[in-house]
Amino acid sequence: MRAVMVANPKGGVGKTTLATNLAGYFANKGRTVSLCDLDRQQSSLRWIAFRDERLASITGYYAGNQMLISLPREPDWVVLDAPAGFQGYKLDDYMRAVDRVIIPVVPSIFDMAATEDFLNTLKRDLGGRAAKIGIVAMRIDPRTRAAGMLDEFLKHFQIPLLANLRSTQNYVNVAAIGQTIFDPPHARNKRDVEQWAQLLNWLEEA
Ligand SMILES: Nc1ncnc2c1ncn2[C@@H]1O[C@H](COP(=O)(O)OP(=O)(O)O)[C@@H](O)[C@H]1O
Ligand SMILES: [Mg+2]
Repeated sequence: MRAVMVANPKGGVGKTTLATNLAGYFANKGRTVSLCDLDRQQSSLRWIAFRDERLASITGYYAGNQMLISLPREPDWVVLDAPAGFQGYKLDDYMRAVDRVIIPVVPSIFDMAATEDFLNTLKRDLGGRAAKIGIVAMRIDPRTRAAGMLDEFLKHFQIPLLANLRSTQNYVNVAAIGQTIFDPPHARNKRDVEQWAQLLNWLEEA
């Protein structure tokens, strides 16, 4: 079993979008996947409820009320969808329990200030284990001033930028029907799937 958590204390930055699509990627690769929803709003679990049984299967469960972390051992991958406001000792415990942490950030000056505090805390608390953290820039238009500012901003942290995912209704449309960009028909979201390549390599490498 390997585990990846998607976290950022800000809401609406794309945690659930990343977590559900990651689960969909692994499932379509033939891996067994558990999607662990840590959010009381249970968006990931509600999404699974819409998922057609004929699609690659994803098992979901809610763990937002667990006092002690216990990740299932059986699946090939556990994908954890963290809630907004997730920080402190509980975040630290989960950071230790997983193999990889992905932090979605959006190119807004307001979000960057909040994200800066979060990244500083991670750097301080994690020390030598920082290597397992990666950033995903969400809803990025590379031509914009905001994208340039995000680039500048990320240079201050020794955390790799693993993907720039464009803003597109494709994510919204697949989410509405319990799907991911990795579900068939595969030609449909080709351009977006390509943007995940580096992130997926980073996850799969030992
Ligand atoms: N790359 C994207 N392009 C367009 N819409 C997106 C993208 N990523 C996320 N969204 C939308 O933004 C909203 C918030 O995303 P969500 O994944 O729920 O964030 P979080 O889990 O961090 O609160 C959702 O409606 C989602 O469909
Ligand atoms: Mg969410």
